[in-house]
Amino acid sequence: MADELSTTPADFLASLPYDRRLASYDVRGSEAWARALERAGVLTSDETQAIVGGLESVRGELESGEFPFRLELEDIHFNVERRLIELIGPLGGKLHTGRSRNDQIATDTRLYVKDAIAATLQRLKAYCRALLDQAEQGIDVVLPGYTHLQRAQPVLLAHHLLAYVEMAERDAGRLADALTRADVMPLGSAALTGTAYPIDRDALAADLDFATVSRNSMDAVADRDYVIEFLSAAALTMTHLSRLCEEIILWSSDEFGFVRVGGDYASGSSIMPQKRNPDIAELVRGKTGRVNGDLVALLTSVKGLPLAYNRDLQEDKEPLFDAADTLLGSLEMMAGMIQTLEFNDDSMRSAAESGFLLATELADYLAAQGSPFRAAHEIAHSLVQTALEEGKQLRDLTLEDYRRASERFEQDVLGITVESAIAKRDIVGGTAPSRVRDAITAARARLESSES
Ligand code: ARG
Repeated sequence: MADELSTTPADFLASLPYDRRLASYDVRGSEAWARALERAGVLTSDETQAIVGGLESVRGELESGEFPFRLELEDIHFNVERRLIELIGPLGGKLHTGRSRNDQIATDTRLYVKDAIAATLQRLKAYCRALLDQAEQGIDVVLPGYTHLQRAQPVLLAHHLLAYVEMAERDAGRLADALTRADVMPLGSAALTGTAYPIDRDALAADLDFATVSRNSMDAVADRDYVIEFLSAAALTMTHLSRLCEEIILWSSDEFGFVRVGGDYASGSSIMPQKRNPDIAELVRGKTGRVNGDLVALLTSVKGLPLAYNRDLQEDKEPLFDAADTLLGSLEMMAGMIQTLEFNDDSMRSAAESGFLLATELADYLAAQGSPFRAAHEIAHSLVQTALEEGKQLRDLTLEDYRRASERFEQDVLGITVESAIAKRDIVGGTAPSRVRDAITAARARLESSES
């Protein structure tokens, strides 16, 4: 065991096993760098053509799976460079003029983060669409809203689902915001001081599709805040998904019986034939721990580093890739799983009708008749007590029962229902049906108008 697990300094240093994922970005950055060197008068146009042509062949090998990855060459940068030299000869050695692996890796990682954010934003949209579709389909469905996991007041299922759309939209906002700061080109910073060659960095940034160029070479090679911002937004997004998963898990239990998870998103037990476990929801909830860990790992790796580049920064990649993969996969699963949800409207309704969820309505009723809310609350509380003692629901109480508690009650108190309670929340942000319908329409419009 000990022998199998032993390593060498070279293996310990190598980042190739994971940074090979950056290969296409490394080639892209290298081609742009060759063109920048030509513009700076460092490479002739023939040399540039030969180098870019060689890099195209490297790209071809990468795409066809024929590229010879060599662990002994430590990382993706050395692998690409060595292959280029093999393909076009010593001229390939000119590519690294005025550049360092330090600005190279920062460039590759930023290109990756930009793509990862764009892909995440797409998946977030699909997830929101799935939530909105369910909200629309179940627009009349009611269930208890909970506080402290105790039945509190009735709400529309759509209102409940829209809460998650709100969270997802803020998550998208955070990711888009992180994207603006990731969209800065570090290339030209060289090892730490800025390159000694007259590179037109603006033209280079345009070539690589970066919005702008870094202003300080030491910062550009040393910080990884753009990764941390992505991880932070990813962790929070996962945390939101995890909360919804927790509800799906609770709601699909026999205790709640509110929903059935369909298709491949639930699995049977190997021993208990009756079971349908919401495994996908559980896994997304579980994986949230990993992504939170990825964030903490990188924060901790960076916190003690003096300027500028330190090898510790190589530790940014595994958390980054892990978080991106986990988040993308989780969002895809969530969108798919939400589409399969079959809500049990009847059991949600009967839960909303039992358990004194309308007690607040009684207090509001008395308050509307002029009773101070505190006193009204006490009277409503006493009515709940009476009903409880007599083993009744509020709907079983007669007008006489009500009038014994307060003279202010009139016949219309018997007309208080789940529907009337919900309809009264007719305010921006409230659960009244017309408000929720408007909220769905508005959310759809925001979703379809956002660029990403
Ligand atoms: N593999 C390194 C990383 O991921 C690339 C930069 C290496 N730079 C250096 N000076 N050793 O950070």
